[in-house]
Amino acid sequence: MAIDYQERIPNNVDLSSNRTLQRALEHWQPRFLNWWQEMGPTDFQSADVYLRTAVSVDRMGWASFAAVKMPEYRWGIFLAERDTDRTFGFGDEYGRPVWQQVPGEHRSTLRRLIVTQGDTEPASVEQQRLLGLTAPSLYDLRGLFQVNVEEGRHLWAMVYLLHAYFGRDGREEAEELLCRHSGDDDKPRILRTFNEPISDWLSFFMFTFFTDRDGKYQLMSLAESGFDPLARTCQFMLTEEAHHMFIGHTGLARVTRRTLEVMEELRTDDPEAIRRGGAIDLPTIQRYINFWFSSALDLFGSESSSNAAQYFAAGLKGRPNEAQFEDHLALDQVFNLETPDGSGAITQEEIPLRNAMNEATRRAYVQECQIFLDRWNDQIQQAGGDFRYRLPSPRFRRSIGIWAGVCTDLDGRPISPEAYAARQNDWLPSDLDRSFVHSLMKPVTEPGKMAAWIAPPDRGINNLPVAHEYVRLA
Ligand SMILES: [Fe+2]
Ligand SMILES: [Fe+2]
Repeated sequence: MAIDYQERIPNNVDLSSNRTLQRALEHWQPRFLNWWQEMGPTDFQSADVYLRTAVSVDRMGWASFAAVKMPEYRWGIFLAERDTDRTFGFGDEYGRPVWQQVPGEHRSTLRRLIVTQGDTEPASVEQQRLLGLTAPSLYDLRGLFQVNVEEGRHLWAMVYLLHAYFGRDGREEAEELLCRHSGDDDKPRILRTFNEPISDWLSFFMFTFFTDRDGKYQLMSLAESGFDPLARTCQFMLTEEAHHMFIGHTGLARVTRRTLEVMEELRTDDPEAIRRGGAIDLPTIQRYINFWFSSALDLFGSESSSNAAQYFAAGLKGRPNEAQFEDHLALDQVFNLETPDGSGAITQEEIPLRNAMNEATRRAYVQECQIFLDRWNDQIQQAGGDFRYRLPSPRFRRSIGIWAGVCTDLDGRPISPEAYAARQNDWLPSDLDRSFVHSLMKPVTEPGKMAAWIAPPDRGINNLPVAHEYVRLA
């Protein structure tokens, strides 16, 4: 059966004249669709969803909007426009022309970087599989599905690279991306955070705020890569990623706004009273922040990393916005780290800057998260509330890096495991918190209506009203 590739798979990689790639995709695409049916959003496959689809890389009009059934979504393959004069922006190859093919000596490293990134994309779809059943509005339901189909497209983007540049082992890795599953005992997803189920919408907004933002920083680092097809692929993915984070930060702002309204109505900030009023009290939201922020920080990797140094040296993975730095070789600079000495004290350590790339990126991430917390705190202050959100210390609750397994308080001061256990329910969502949040998760399916725990968005999607029927249930 002949497939019109330009029509079926929107692309700017000249798919219709690339027989090798077509053959690989012919094999992979049906398997992807099976995976989508089995592991993608449950129950809504025949609903009409108002979705954005990437159809070109034109900045002015790269996407089209229409009501489509998700299995008929056109998952396309797009790379940002090629700059034929592009050179390495950092590392030992600095200033030389970038690679259009994979150099033999970096083949397995590049493949691993692509597979690790690619694995997170379908993983998040699997994690969010059941959320559609409890969406607080049709607007939010559409937001969830938009994120899901675009994470599906990000998987396509990585699979394209594997198929087009890595031959047989690339094709095998592409198959494996559909075989590992989030939370599976035998074949889990590669990174830990992507194996935790997301079963409530507060967690979904936390995930799109904190975890997708880690994704943004990883994509920005890979968008600097000297392997040009990878850089261009990631650059285009960033345009879609921005909307995922928008869903996260506006979602959390709306939850906060609703809580403030209930506080005002009831003239109290007593958490129990707020809960009885049907909203989520601010301290509970703070505990979710503590959980998801610390979990996202692990995704950046160890503070001191010889892998990161090697990626930087070889020009495979750079720093986000590498152009903003003065020194692109980072050879003679050092980076100061605070490390636990094992006896409860903290010592200073100097490491070569190249080894500290994960930590440098993590610090930029923390600053960006803080900007949004400041905004929400303004919102609280304007409403007359005393509470302020804060990010815990990056040392808090870490599982990866020099602080892994070290018990600290929210300020990052080392404490005993007993002291940590005693405060755990003050700092992290308790079983009671989680069951309370779960108790609010009731679907609202009337256009324009919102669940009682979340305020409506300021505006709708693509200039449509908030009350538009964004998902028409079959
Ligand atoms: Fe993604
Ligand atoms: Fe995303």
